[in-house]
Amino acid sequence: MIPFNYLGYFFKHFGSVIYPKEVLDELCIFLEQLKGEESVLDVGAGTGVMSEFAHRCNSNLKYVAVDPAEGMLKYAPNYAQVHVGMAEALPFEDDNFEAVLMGESLHHFNDPDVAMKEVVRVLKKDGKLFIYDFDFGTFRGKAICTMEKLLGEPGHFYEVDALKKMLESHGFKVEISKHKWRYTVSASL
Ligand SMILES: C[S@@+](CC[C@H](N)C(=O)[O-])C[C@H]1O[C@@H](n2cnc3c(N)ncnc32)[C@H](O)[C@@H]1O
Repeated sequence: MIPFNYLGYFFKHFGSVIYPKEVLDELCIFLEQLKGEESVLDVGAGTGVMSEFAHRCNSNLKYVAVDPAEGMLKYAPNYAQVHVGMAEALPFEDDNFEAVLMGESLHHFNDPDVAMKEVVRVLKKDGKLFIYDFDFGTFRGKAICTMEKLLGEPGHFYEVDALKKMLESHGFKVEISKHKWRYTVSASL
């Protein structure tokens, strides 16, 4: 397993490097759908890299970060409310958030299908989901998957068509944009 609990300092200082400009542009476009002070949940937030980028696009939103690794969460920005928890058992009531973000975290979940049920449960009606992750349909995506599995990670990497089907099975309308070996998903219930 990757010892995320001890990698907070590293992710705080270098985690943003892996977010290309196209992904940040897509994130800002996604957040344009939220016009007020809606609540946004960053799942597998780590040190809050995704929330920090989102905050630069829209600082009116209420940011909530959830992650099992306290050693990552302790570096989250102070405008984010932090919670220790797993994607498969989100520590929130039903119908709580207007949007959910996942930055390079989906492939680390033990059970993405259970996690997605949880996401649907905590999202409000017409809730929205943004995912950024690595495309298993590319050479680089496959290489990262192999490396992570060697490190004992679950390695739930998706090809974009399979991910679209999975998300649709949970009731999402899905748009996926490919960015070389990475993708972003903009979805809504
Ligand atoms: C590669 S880091 C990404 C962190 C952050 N989203 C970013 O973009 O820098 C993956 C994160 O997923 C978290 N994680 C691992 N298993 C998880 C699970 N079952 N539920 C929620 N988060 C999980 C890890 O603790 C880690 O912080």
